Amino acid sequence: KKIVLAYSGGLDTSVILKWLLEKYGCPVVAFCADVGQEEDWEEVRRRALAVGAEEVIIRDLREEFVSEFVFTALKANAAYEGWYLMGTSLARPLIAREQVRVAREVGADAVAHGATGKGNDQVRFELTYAALAPELEVIAPWRQWEFEGREDLIRFAEEHGIPVPVTREKPYSIDANLFHISYEGGILEDPWAEPPEDMFRMTVSPEAAPDEPEYLEIDFERGVPVAVNGQRLSPVELLSLLNEMGGRHGVGRVDMVENRFVGLKSRGIYETPGGTILHTAHRALEHLTLDREVMHLRDSLIPRFSELIYYGFWFSPEMEALRAFIEETQKNVTGTVRLKLYKGQAMVVGRKSPVSLYREDLASFDRAEGYDQKDAEGFIRLQALRLKLWSARKGRA
Ligand code: ARG
Ligand code: SIN
Repeated sequence: KKIVLAYSGGLDTSVILKWLLEKYGCPVVAFCADVGQEEDWEEVRRRALAVGAEEVIIRDLREEFVSEFVFTALKANAAYEGWYLMGTSLARPLIAREQVRVAREVGADAVAHGATGKGNDQVRFELTYAALAPELEVIAPWRQWEFEGREDLIRFAEEHGIPVPVTREKPYSIDANLFHISYEGGILEDPWAEPPEDMFRMTVSPEAAPDEPEYLEIDFERGVPVAVNGQRLSPVELLSLLNEMGGRHGVGRVDMVENRFVGLKSRGIYETPGGTILHTAHRALEHLTLDREVMHLRDSLIPRFSELIYYGFWFSPEMEALRAFIEETQKNVTGTVRLKLYKGQAMVVGRKSPVSLYREDLASFDRAEGYDQKDAEGFIRLQALRLKLWSARKGRA
């Protein structure tokens, strides 16, 4: 038997690594996914080997993360419960997919993860394993062992010589990648308590942002952002640059209570600076280039599409079908959006496109070609017909 563990280098997965070695007495491979969280990977490697990993495999998944997952969600304007851009939800299926690949490469027959039995992440990991490698055994230590919380983990770590982070009380549960950072737990569990300013890592507060606005232009091709201020950039470069720009103007903070898939509500704080700029810009370009009915149809699917991502059904038949539809809608989402970043806001101030559906001459109050105002009379009369019948019936009742 051999296990591949999704290892982050933190206390939880270090304890899990040791626990797996003791419980199963088989080799454990530590798999680390670089999705843009800033880590000292050599230090992570040393730690895993010190605890007893047979091998440490670190994979750079940043480019795939942005081009395949983040940009797909962007094309759909996906947001869970209206606000959450799903930085964590989007990374999990990618990490699990690569973990499955690693399991096959090293000839493992089991995969393990460090998500708790109360959260969404366990579902996302395990639905991905099921879709891509149903033959693998799944080990979820948080649902199996007797430890109940952080104190138990720290005791186990100390007994086994696993280095424990200096601050004994961990204020928040943090998940970071190139798209966002999420914070949950600790004092944030009181939904009335404002998050402390020193918690944030990607953004300054709007109060601390510059008093001068910053303008920028983003070019999109078929719904995908390809350049900032006229400079073509790779997906990772583009998102990193927008994170910096948004971060210095305090753009992209969200504080919300959300419905977890398992049925409980949870309070989360998110920082998604570059993602917030991109979502705003992308929507503005769609306003110019998307047909009305296509847009409204797509919009009606945003809650469903976002649910699928949040719940962990990235690899599913319904997701494949929805993605095909969304791709189709993006054929003409090409053009440039101009924005102004200022004190926590990303404001759209201009948009243009070679395939725009906007016709100034039609919309103008001054000119009239191609639009006969008299046509509106019959249009309204027929729209009104059933309202008149309904009204007359109501009057009689
Ligand atoms: N609530 C968010 C989500 O479900 C963030 C989860 C953060 N995960 C973590 N392991 N800290 O996507
Ligand atoms: C966890 O419970 O492991 C993190 C939070 C979540 O998955 O929702």
